[in-house]
Amino acid sequence: MRINTRAFLDIFLEKLKFKFGFKKNTPSHIILKTNDFLSKKDYLILKETAEKFKKKCHGGNIEANNTKNFVYSKYKKGKIDEIEKNDPILKFAYSKKLLEIIHKNFRIENPQPHRASYWWIPAVKLNTKREMSQLWHIDPEGVKVVKVFLYFHDVSDSCMQIIPTLRRSSLCSLISRHAIDGYGVYPDLKQRKIIDKHQENIESFNLKEGTFLIADTSHLHRGGYSFKENRLSCYVSYKPNR
Ligand SMILES: [Fe+2]
Repeated sequence: MRINTRAFLDIFLEKLKFKFGFKKNTPSHIILKTNDFLSKKDYLILKETAEKFKKKCHGGNIEANNTKNFVYSKYKKGKIDEIEKNDPILKFAYSKKLLEIIHKNFRIENPQPHRASYWWIPAVKLNTKREMSQLWHIDPEGVKVVKVFLYFHDVSDSCMQIIPTLRRSSLCSLISRHAIDGYGVYPDLKQRKIIDKHQENIESFNLKEGTFLIADTSHLHRGGYSFKENRLSCYVSYKPNR
């Protein structure tokens, strides 16, 4: 068994802090406008790159992801060092203002871009069953990860949903695959019962074009399930650099 010490320690400390009440709450998410930290020009360059990628998807030149067949991704794994050097998403990912916002709001120590890509998600047919990350889950990274989503058109409430009152430390025991191996959490029966009590805390979002949703994905969330419109976005995920 591969022990992910960092994941284990993170959950352990998080549980301790909550138990003894000295945990300063950080938000599950924040919403920002483009002009909070991206110039109009840089936004339009990003959008143009996203539109080009979407055209390739329409032309059949790009296939859906192997593991998540509901999403088309420009960079399949999205590893930051595999991204084309001239891709504007890199300038966005390393934007000083954005790094400061993540550090200040989510208390991520020296945040470093970890993964990034453009996503095109076609709308699903009515009553399509949710799968993979479309289901409630907590991201697999053991450490706290913050993800920034930028939408290139208005997004209805079919985009990401989050339950701010449910963090991994409320759902995972200390000896769990998540705590030790850093696996994702797809709730079991016991955890489902906890989630049921938090249904009224679900947050959905109606967002305008150019809006950023910045989310701490160690909170329970689900996404990638668009039933109202095709969706074009890009994302960058950040991990602490310790
Ligand atoms: Fe996720």
